[in-house]
Amino acid sequence: MAGRIPEQFIDELMARVDIVDIVDSYVPLRKGGRDYIACCPFHNEKTPSFTVSRDKQFFHCFGCGAHGTAIGFLMDYEHMEFVEAVHELASRLGIDVPVTGGVSVKQPHTQDIYQVLDQAAKFYRRQLKEHDQGQKVIDYLRQRGLNGDVAADYGLGFAPPGWDSITPALGAAYGQSLLDAGLLIEKPASGGGAGRRYDRFRDRVMFPIRDTRGRVIGFGGRVLGDDTPKYLNSPETAVFHKGRELYGLYEARKAMRKLDRLLVVEGYMDVIMLARHGIRYAVATLGTATTTEHLERMFRQVPEVVFCFDGDRAGREAAWRALENVLPVIGDGRQARFMFLPDGEDPDSLVQQENRDLFEQRIGNAVPLSTFFFDALSGRVDMQSIDGYVRLLELARPMLARMPRGVFRQEMIARLAERTRMSTQELLTELGETTSPARKRVKPPGSGNNRQPSLVRTAVTLLIHYPALAQQAGDVDVLHDLDRPGMGLLLKLLELLQQRPHLNGAALLEHWRGSEEGHYLHKLAAQELLLAGESEAEREFVAALDRMRGQARNQRLEVLHNKSAAAGGLTDDEKNELKQLHSESLGNI
Ligand code: GTP
Ligand code: MN
Repeated sequence: MAGRIPEQFIDELMARVDIVDIVDSYVPLRKGGRDYIACCPFHNEKTPSFTVSRDKQFFHCFGCGAHGTAIGFLMDYEHMEFVEAVHELASRLGIDVPVTGGVSVKQPHTQDIYQVLDQAAKFYRRQLKEHDQGQKVIDYLRQRGLNGDVAADYGLGFAPPGWDSITPALGAAYGQSLLDAGLLIEKPASGGGAGRRYDRFRDRVMFPIRDTRGRVIGFGGRVLGDDTPKYLNSPETAVFHKGRELYGLYEARKAMRKLDRLLVVEGYMDVIMLARHGIRYAVATLGTATTTEHLERMFRQVPEVVFCFDGDRAGREAAWRALENVLPVIGDGRQARFMFLPDGEDPDSLVQQENRDLFEQRIGNAVPLSTFFFDALSGRVDMQSIDGYVRLLELARPMLARMPRGVFRQEMIARLAERTRMSTQELLTELGETTSPARKRVKPPGSGNNRQPSLVRTAVTLLIHYPALAQQAGDVDVLHDLDRPGMGLLLKLLELLQQRPHLNGAALLEHWRGSEEGHYLHKLAAQELLLAGESEAEREFVAALDRMRGQARNQRLEVLHNKSAAAGGLTDDEKNELKQLHSESLGNI
């Protein structure tokens, strides 16, 4: 919900911002008819089904159903929080976000954080040349096999030794932002030196971590020798979330005109050394396992992800965890493969020993997910025994259940059938699946399969697409008594639009963000209207409201008729009302 940012401000933001500019800054759009189109950033596709409407201020993908406003786009694409997205849009318009109620919203200060991180990266980079010990770092990188070009592409730098370098370099005025950016550490409030702040990164090679837009969001720092910890990463901050970011993704996108696949490796140095040898599509997670969120991100960019692991036991275990996380996002048009390196090697060492071609041959030989899956499972059971089949089925069942339905899952089931010598049909039954492919989904009110949409639904849909229609609604008092699913929402919409006639559809969606009603509105907003235009919309809208008024009158008539037939009869007022209703409904014939 809007928190303590006034609703009116969100309305204003939705009126002033242009979703086309916002989306275009992340996903280049081109004009296609009335709307703007692109290949959808939320699923993988070759022909564009992602559209952005300037009139409606919505984006919508006909392929995967992704849909939303400019705020929604930032939340889905950039994983921003609501408040963060509002601040981002406001800052693009150059306006401040007001706060109501004296209680201040947690101001994310993200702009300041980005700024100090950017300054810090520049400072660390300069130290390679300017600091007395800069040469020792350059020598270290050379000795590891790096050259200046790649070091520059990845923005490598040097955090000097000493406890207090970054603050004087950027200016004491940035103190709080440096702390918020994770560049300073503050001693706990009790004990000696309480509150004292000092540099987190000291005497380390610095690897800036950038988001997909190229903004520095954090750092990794490596010791030059054998000290521990070998690597130090920025802590989680308002702009840095480890489970989501991929080191090297920005650089890969920048270096490659077209990315066809991504190679997931373990370390910073692996990414950089592969780039040094011409393999510029490697990314690394930041010392965490590959999450489903990472994978979702990667599959938005490329149809194929190849995981690279050590050949040892730990590597195989890590691969299995990656496989578990990839299952929910794998599917038609998305491939995952697994490669295992010889014992004791990592991509960094191997690409230097061999060369680009040999390493790419290894990538080419990576095994498909299904092969790795069945080989690993078969390795755990004795396939010579009947028990083995049962066991295999047991192990596979929960894994298959995590996969989205589709051709790929069916293939996996067919392969499992082969291995367990069951028929695919038997297996489907065994897995608790009927043959009907359609999954039961919860339907919003009035959205039966073949039925006409209800009048309420029609009216609400039209309002979301053409909010100005609210002015044509006429008197809706009688509708308060008409008991229909969604009527409450329709009346609230009409009331809001009476008070604020200039709200657009995006602002309406934002009003109900996060609620069940909002979810319903989103569905309706995502519908393509098969209407010739605004005048036809108006005719439909007025007709729907008239019919509902008619129904309300009939409902009331029935109540009054029943009452007049009952013992007490009607009061005088009710008799008058009945007469009135009769004449109105006659007038409507
Ligand atoms: P080099 O020794 O420089 O080649 O590093 P590497 O990239 O080969 O490192 P390694 O394979 O030991 O570790 C892989 C990744 O795990 C690193 O890139 C880091 O992200 C992370 N990592 C390794 N050591 C540490 C550590 O001591 N602390 C933290 N937080 N992360 C680490
Ligand atoms: Mn290494």
